[in-house]
Amino acid sequence: MTVPHKPIPFLDLKAFHAELQDELDLAWKSVVQHGNFLGGPDVDRFESEFARYCEVANCVGVGNGTDALELVLLAMGIGRGDEVMVPANTFAATAEAVCAVGARPRFVDVLPSTLLVDPDAVAAAVNPRTAAVIGVHLFGQVVDVRRLASVAARHGLAFIEDAAQAHGARLGGRRAGSVGHAATFSFYPGKNLGALGDGGAVVTNDPALADRVRQLANHGRSANDRYRHEVSGRNSRLDSIQAAVLLAKLPRLEHDNERRRSAMARYRAWLPEWCAPVAVTPGSAPVHHLAVVRTAQRARITEALTAAQIGWGVHYPVPCHQQPAFADFGEHLPVAERAAGEVLSLPMSPVISDGEVARVCEVLRGVRP
Ligand SMILES: Cc1ncc(COP(=O)(O)O)c(C=O)c1O
Repeated sequence: MTVPHKPIPFLDLKAFHAELQDELDLAWKSVVQHGNFLGGPDVDRFESEFARYCEVANCVGVGNGTDALELVLLAMGIGRGDEVMVPANTFAATAEAVCAVGARPRFVDVLPSTLLVDPDAVAAAVNPRTAAVIGVHLFGQVVDVRRLASVAARHGLAFIEDAAQAHGARLGGRRAGSVGHAATFSFYPGKNLGALGDGGAVVTNDPALADRVRQLANHGRSANDRYRHEVSGRNSRLDSIQAAVLLAKLPRLEHDNERRRSAMARYRAWLPEWCAPVAVTPGSAPVHHLAVVRTAQRARITEALTAAQIGWGVHYPVPCHQQPAFADFGEHLPVAERAAGEVLSLPMSPVISDGEVARVCEVLRGVRP
């Protein structure tokens, strides 16, 4: 009798959280006991520990990663009449934030090897309306921050890192989020550092920028007088419960990222060559938020994976510039367009076992190219 294989989820958050159930229980219970649900010691501590982890001077906790982007753009004074460079290959939130402040996203193509934004394409698209460049560290990889920072400096542009998918990644020794004028993070539950709900942060070495973000995120309040509203802001705060959860998870992040790297190394060794992982930037330490492969056989592979009860995803099947939401800003960006038809995300998490990776690869090898 053959033993049926167990299903393999795309992201096994249940198993991951089971490993730290005690710490999570302590975290939420302590917040319920002290009753400081917004702001207070957990948020202060998380902000300072996450800033230290990212190797930057300031961190401001906010409601989510989309708000983080929007608040940075607002704090930089970017809005109507400005253009902001956005890679064609990213989650819609990057472009949404640009539209939300009244600016225009200018979509640029990505590199065929890593599918990260192409610094030459950014340089070629700079024009008098360009105000900022957003480099997105997609899939847990870091964009070429040195080259993007130099294009930005040459043209007097702001350089923002969208690090929602890259907590802890490095390139040339620098942490994702530590090079740009500011960087934004999402703590959506499935991220490498995820809350038990929404959460986000802005990190920056510029204390004045951090203060402006903090003020905008807290109803435009004066730092010294909570009844004085200096500017018209909004409400986008990191809940104390989420900060406490993130504090419980942060000490494990390096180890969890290392476990993702090991799983990715197994994929690289065991996947058939017609289904190769997206290239890693030389000199980088990616954190493999997603295990993305490229294949011309996506439909057949996903059929086989589904039949074998193995989870999968596609990041992203439609590039941002071809989404109906951004039809007004359309371009023809051939590298991103081709990749959208070929990328496939395989199961990945810190708790995926070698046996599970082997099983995914075995199912893939069973699909004839
Ligand atoms: C690249 C990127 N940017 C921004 C965001 C937005 O983050 P959030 O979902 O926390 O608003 C995400 C989240 O999925 C993302 O992957």
